Amino acid sequence: MTDLERRDPEIARIVADEERRQQNEINLIASENIVSSAVLAAQGSVLTNKYAEGYPGKRYYGGCEVVDRAEELARVRACKLFGAEHANVQPHSGTQANLAAYAAVLEPRDKVLALELAHGGHLSHGAKVSFSGKAYEFHHYPLSRETERIDLGIVEEMARALRPKLIVTGASAYPRHIDFAGFARIAREVGALFLVDMAHIAGLVAGGAHPSPVPHADLVTTTTHKTLRGPRCGMILCRSSFAKKVDSAVFPGTQGGPLMHLVAARAVCFAEAATPEFRSYAAQVVANARKLGEVLARAGVRLVSGGTDNHLILVDLRSVGITGDVAENALARARIVANMNMIPFDPNPPRRPSGLRIGTPAITTRGMGLEEVERIAEWIAAILKDPGNEARTSAIANDVLDLCGRFPTRY
Ligand SMILES: Cc1ncc(COP(=O)(O)O)c(C=O)c1O
Repeated sequence: MTDLERRDPEIARIVADEERRQQNEINLIASENIVSSAVLAAQGSVLTNKYAEGYPGKRYYGGCEVVDRAEELARVRACKLFGAEHANVQPHSGTQANLAAYAAVLEPRDKVLALELAHGGHLSHGAKVSFSGKAYEFHHYPLSRETERIDLGIVEEMARALRPKLIVTGASAYPRHIDFAGFARIAREVGALFLVDMAHIAGLVAGGAHPSPVPHADLVTTTTHKTLRGPRCGMILCRSSFAKKVDSAVFPGTQGGPLMHLVAARAVCFAEAATPEFRSYAAQVVANARKLGEVLARAGVRLVSGGTDNHLILVDLRSVGITGDVAENALARARIVANMNMIPFDPNPPRRPSGLRIGTPAITTRGMGLEEVERIAEWIAAILKDPGNEARTSAIANDVLDLCGRFPTRY
């Protein structure tokens, strides 16, 4: 019996149930992944007991000499992994990283240009309901209606007219490469700073499976828990000229004490992401996404922008005559987890959108390759085309269970 089972059986049961759920389902949520036992161990360590406001060597608490070593390792490893000049590894999440990055370089009501939320952007890129949309004057560039991709011509025209202080790119649901050099050129031309939020693609960048924004951007924000496969946290990378401003914007600007167990867990994740095994992982994530898209397209399911360059595909469910909520629920009955999503120029509302976002980071971590992806895509196509066929769905649920049994989530 574990300590948790003895001291809090209710929570112990919830943890066990959740582990069983993760083991027995195919997780295709593009923003999720499965961390290693080493990341879990650092995250569940006694470092959680330590207050450490400030930065290594300059803390507002005594007794920080040991945790200082963890933060220093995390910073050095992050800079090496991404070729960055400076790293702040304290933001508690991706949203916190964006909050601090904006605070470092913007004044309230400054103008910012970012990707439209409904076209794949993120809430923290200026949505009205987010702090970002309330504090700053965000304007949003749409995708091209024809290609369903970012059109730098549109970005440039808007940037010239608006003269924003900051241009932001990066997305939560965009399946294509982003031309970071092109964005940097536009930012230079209009005298704007350039920020890339690489939350979704950070692991692909680290593993060499996606072009890096780091050489082109003044500031790069990210989460560490998506393709990067680390703890549920944020990070800011920047040029050294912004280091002081970024550090003060994180603490004391927008946060209190850092979560040192999670700083240590980030360090573990960065070391893992620097290995040859992680490079193969990142390449396989992309190959799996491409295969998934090909099989679905062959079955007559339309993909937004016609395909993918990264870890996710965005399905246009109008091609099979259903909406995202119906697709998400039908797949869930077959133990396949994915999420409904808006597609560019979606005629439907967010709670009944026309899209489904499907990603391969978590199944690839479990060791699933092209053969398994092909089966999964065939199951998805069958369900999307006939979501009310309960006999077929429950037969697929059994096959999913068999498949999951061969690919453990613990590693
Ligand atoms: C592009 C992007 N930025 C930021 C975030 C926010 O991350 P968090 O949920 O850790 O605040 C997300 C999360 O989905 C994201 O996709």
